[in-house]
Amino acid sequence: MDKTSPSGPIGIFDSGYGGLSVFKEIQQLLPQYDYIYLGDNARVPYGTRSFDTVYNYTKQCVFKLFEMGCNLVILACNTASAKALRTLQHNDLPAGKKVLGVIRPTTEIVHNYTKTNKIGILATTGTVKSESYKIEVHKFNPEIEVFQHDCPFWVPLVENNEINTEGAHYFVQKDIRELLQQSDQIDTIVLACTHYPLLLPVIEKYVPKAVTVISQGPIVAGSLQDYLHRHAEVEASCSKNGQLAFYTTDDPRDFETKAQIFFGKPVDASHISV
Ligand code: DGL
Repeated sequence: MDKTSPSGPIGIFDSGYGGLSVFKEIQQLLPQYDYIYLGDNARVPYGTRSFDTVYNYTKQCVFKLFEMGCNLVILACNTASAKALRTLQHNDLPAGKKVLGVIRPTTEIVHNYTKTNKIGILATTGTVKSESYKIEVHKFNPEIEVFQHDCPFWVPLVENNEINTEGAHYFVQKDIRELLQQSDQIDTIVLACTHYPLLLPVIEKYVPKAVTVISQGPIVAGSLQDYLHRHAEVEASCSKNGQLAFYTTDDPRDFETKAQIFFGKPVDASHISV
């Protein structure tokens, strides 16, 4: 880390509200740090967009968080982690700045859950097409077979707070059935989009009891804690006043209303242009 740059908040980025399912867990586990959450609600969804578009949008948001003083940014978004993280890390980072994603922490521990070595991935179309989960799971556990299914309607359902509606039940049941039809031995399903845990009460109705459903929030929070223990210079670059700030590229009042539901407590949001 650059010793001359002052410490700053940890940035948490997502295309919209989904990252709140990760941020909530991080903030509960590590309440001492300052955080800035940035939701690119004006341009959500990312999951149906091209590689270049997701990379460019993600880069703009990450650099906005750097400008606001963050030295460490978490991409609390699988689509951005799949399509932008590697390029950002290799080509774009200014000295003293770090970006981490959500795919590696998840694929590192998935073997702890499966006994059949057959896992299902529910994700956006972009994440599924990138094959990032297959590639990363096989780096650690080549014996695990990965079955994928994309759920293009789930993110709009969450963004519009259509969570316990007939439409949500229809699409969640249909997508889970289509995933599980690929193999009757899938015993673990990863919700590989940070929006999906917000649909958990509906998801649990349609997943057989013997199948474990994994949400990434607690996994990413634990992995961040471990990372900060192992990287003292990064830890020292994170300010510690327990303060939270929320920014959205869309309407802040709308963001406050929905974020409160997903984050579990009232939030104060401001508009930001990236
Ligand atoms: N929450 C994001 C993810 O984890 C992206 C959803 C979207 O914008 O399509 O993939």
